[in-house]
Amino acid sequence: MEIIITKDSEEMSDKAAEIVIAQIKAKPDTVLGLATGSTPEGLYARMVRAHKEDGLDFSSVVTFNLDEYVDLAPDHEQSYRSFMNRHLFDHINVNKENTHVPDGLATDLGEFCRRYEQMICEAGGIDIQVLGIGRDGHLGFNEPGSSLASLTQVVTLAPETIEDNSRFFQSEEEVPRFAVTMGIQSILNARKCLMLASGRGKAEVVKGCVEGPITAMVTASALQMHTDAVVILDEEAASMLDRIDYYRWAQEARQQVADRL
Ligand code: F6R
Repeated sequence: MEIIITKDSEEMSDKAAEIVIAQIKAKPDTVLGLATGSTPEGLYARMVRAHKEDGLDFSSVVTFNLDEYVDLAPDHEQSYRSFMNRHLFDHINVNKENTHVPDGLATDLGEFCRRYEQMICEAGGIDIQVLGIGRDGHLGFNEPGSSLASLTQVVTLAPETIEDNSRFFQSEEEVPRFAVTMGIQSILNARKCLMLASGRGKAEVVKGCVEGPITAMVTASALQMHTDAVVILDEEAASMLDRIDYYRWAQEARQQVADRL
């Protein structure tokens, strides 16, 4: 795992945007894995700016989102399809037909999950997967106890997640109880994983993910098994890491050999 510690969430988003934009420039038909939630909003704003101000071209980019609530229509304000349109897709020249968000309305959800995996495979696999981390350690909606070998699946949301996400709904009762999510193995299949976290509220779970044992109780800890996982943290999210001095030292040292990596 490469750990990058930034001053604050603005700098975290700058660094993430640098990596994603470089990837799209190097491979215009990049397959991007995307996340929703508050954490990647700054990254998406920077991608929009790169398109509007510098002409970054998304016309050949293909995207796959991690997850979607079950039984929330795509045009519902809180669906992840709406979120992606609002924060990214409506402001760049991506072909909407190339943007994929799991279908939470599918009547046969099991069959849909298998098809989503197939679609990712047919697109050539995900080049770079953007991730946030839930307070309970989830990646996508893979709550504690989800198999680390899981592929796209239907999950029951944990009470902490329902409580956390209720800030986007009128009340906790309105938060859907189920979601379709790429599995942990689907995420690990991406060629590169880019996990972002900011704020003190994420410090404990970030410690578990980066320095704790690999366990289904913190599904994000599976990233330790990925050969190209980059974790970008702000100072608060990094504040409980035991080896923080080493990560800072390594980050600086890497810059000296950056052109050879
Ligand atoms: C969203 C997703 C979730 C979020 C996580 C953190 O697509 O997959 O795993 O990344 O719940 O959410 P925020 O960023 O709102 O703290």
